[in-house]
Amino acid sequence: MITRKNLGDGVVLVLFSGDGPVNTLGRADNERFAALIDELLAEPSVKGIVLSSDKRDFLAGGDLDELRAVQTPADAIAIVTPFLKAIRKLETGGKPVVAALNGTALGGGFELALACHRRIAADQPSARFGLPEVTLGLMPGGGGTQRLPRLIGLAAATPLLLEGKRLKPADALAAGLIDAIVQPERLLDEAKAWVLASSNPAQLWDMKSFRLPGFAPQSPEGRQFFLASWARLHKRSAGCDLASEAILQVLHHGTERSIDAGIAIETRHFARLAASFDAKAKIRTLFVGTANARAMKMRPKNVPVSKPARVAVIGGGVMGRGIAYVSAMAGMEVNLVDISADIAAKAKDAITRIAERDHERGHLRGTVADVVGRIYPTMSYADIGQSDIVVEAVFERPDLKRDVLAKAAAAIRPGTPIASNTSSIPITNLASALPDPSCILGLHFFSPVERMQLVEVIRAGATSDEILARALDFLKRIDKTPVVVNDGLGFFTSRVVTTYSSEAMNLLADGVTPQLIDNAAVNAGFAMGPISLCDLVTMPLLKDIFASMRGNGRRAADRGSVARETVAKLAADERVGKAKGNGIYTYNGETREPWDGLSACLGTKPSSLDEATVRDRLLFTQSLEAIRTLEDGVVTRPIDGDLASVLGWGFPAHLGGVFSFVDRVGASAFAHRAHELADLFGGRYEPPAMLLEMARDNRKFHDV
Ligand code: NAI
Repeated sequence: MITRKNLGDGVVLVLFSGDGPVNTLGRADNERFAALIDELLAEPSVKGIVLSSDKRDFLAGGDLDELRAVQTPADAIAIVTPFLKAIRKLETGGKPVVAALNGTALGGGFELALACHRRIAADQPSARFGLPEVTLGLMPGGGGTQRLPRLIGLAAATPLLLEGKRLKPADALAAGLIDAIVQPERLLDEAKAWVLASSNPAQLWDMKSFRLPGFAPQSPEGRQFFLASWARLHKRSAGCDLASEAILQVLHHGTERSIDAGIAIETRHFARLAASFDAKAKIRTLFVGTANARAMKMRPKNVPVSKPARVAVIGGGVMGRGIAYVSAMAGMEVNLVDISADIAAKAKDAITRIAERDHERGHLRGTVADVVGRIYPTMSYADIGQSDIVVEAVFERPDLKRDVLAKAAAAIRPGTPIASNTSSIPITNLASALPDPSCILGLHFFSPVERMQLVEVIRAGATSDEILARALDFLKRIDKTPVVVNDGLGFFTSRVVTTYSSEAMNLLADGVTPQLIDNAAVNAGFAMGPISLCDLVTMPLLKDIFASMRGNGRRAADRGSVARETVAKLAADERVGKAKGNGIYTYNGETREPWDGLSACLGTKPSSLDEATVRDRLLFTQSLEAIRTLEDGVVTRPIDGDLASVLGWGFPAHLGGVFSFVDRVGASAFAHRAHELADLFGGRYEPPAMLLEMARDNRKFHDV
């Protein structure tokens, strides 16, 4: 809802007060807003306008549900055009307009503020300002790409737009995005006072004398700036980030023209992106999927919410330290158990160093002493009796884990959740070590724990609702994004990601060069190529992973695969990985070169496979295995697999994840290509029954 109120002395307040928890701008709001602006500009008694909201935020942005329904660029244009016209009238209507930013203004909300003659923000530390559209595969479509550089210059505006930064009030003030910060209770008075004091308001960019701050795109500095920006963008995204490309185009071509021509260029690109698969996939996975996961939609509703206060972490290695650290940072007390007091104390020292580093970077909540002071290293299970949850992170050995879990269960109160951070051992195999198997589940964290937001939550057959709910309450407290899956070898993430590294090995065995394999992956949008990844994991560990993922030896993912033999040959030749300087590549510090012994080691001849085939092999193998996990009931909803693949191992976000990628290709075309790949490279590409049914019925994994 948008209403008008009198602030007295001819100043009118336009108040946004939507029905939902936050204010968003949809098509109907845009039309109502446009009509109200016409009305106010036409009324002689109205001297000026103040825009504000009665919610905690000012305006969170456009209505994403509406944007998701957009099918064609014309649909998107129909949504933004009334808004664009209204705010253009607002800034050229001759009456002073102030945005009284009572809270967060992002996306369309901040674009509206940019069209005001002044932006005054309430002193709200939680408020954020900016244009984050790019993070969802979109770009600003309400004039933001044109007004922001005209306000603060191309050099300052470009990174804000390309990174989608959300600035705190003080930073927004320093960057020139807002004009003033005032006490919240003074906000409307200050806004009104500014309206009454200003005469003949106009935007800088509508004045004849206007020059872009800093430099113009066609100046030598501007040309240099765009050249460098394009190079940086290609290095970062290898042509897979359509939104950033569109933003750079529009910044360049829009700012060398008038504001109206610039906005027209912006609209064209915005509409193209809004209708694109990439944006829909990113919004679905990164926005809707993440928001639902973080809202704990999968949490059993019948269990009262708990607030864990004390955590026991067993195993103070890479993962245990991370879990202990994030728990302490969230305010919980942590008992960190390892095999000796000395090793446990060293783990705490290592956490202190991580905390100090994060403090320097401004990422630490609280002081180093406070956070680390909540961690108590020990070798005694007697110390963990009062824990509200136990997380085990010892070596990946079933017998060791069973032993540790049994000791922990004997030390704690009955009914306390016990989680294993195993990366592949079925939880059911560990559950029988406990007196009460309903208390165990898997919490599969990713490394580095303090930076990776995903946690794969593995529910075994016996895991009770209460235990699942309490484990999710713990994840909520440490601010993670959970994906709940069912038990099985490698669960979802390890099972699917192993096909990525094993297919890289198969490609090597076919004589494809490591560089071509890595380039094909990076060009497809992966953060890192699979060969580089294998070199980080190391050959001995990969050998173990392939062996542990073998299961009964009849897995579809292994048909025609020679990955195990390939990694065994590399390991036998004492190739280890990047850490030792001698993996599939040869390393010299941060530089690397092809290893000239590779084809002799593997007994291969040069391959003529092209990049497109290599890319298809890497992508298809993961999506096919993901479909098999759905058939097996490991994942129950495609969105969970999409989220886990993008957040867990950097599956290209613009493809939306392993299931969305199938939708993008289309089930029928996907099955057809899978058959082709199976004929050429082995039975692991045979389309699963579910895919064939989807192809026959012309179905997709996601309707929107
Ligand atoms: P790590 O080798 O760094 O640390 C293991 C720790 O467990 C060591 O501090 C060791 O002293 C301790 N430990 C061994 N036996 C113990 C016992 N009986 N009682 C108490 N502590 C004991 O291992 P990391 O990498 O932290 O892995 C731990 C678990 O997390 C494994 O199950 C692994 O598969 C899993 N994981 C590892 C990931 C990674 O990226 N490193 C990612 C996700 C899961």
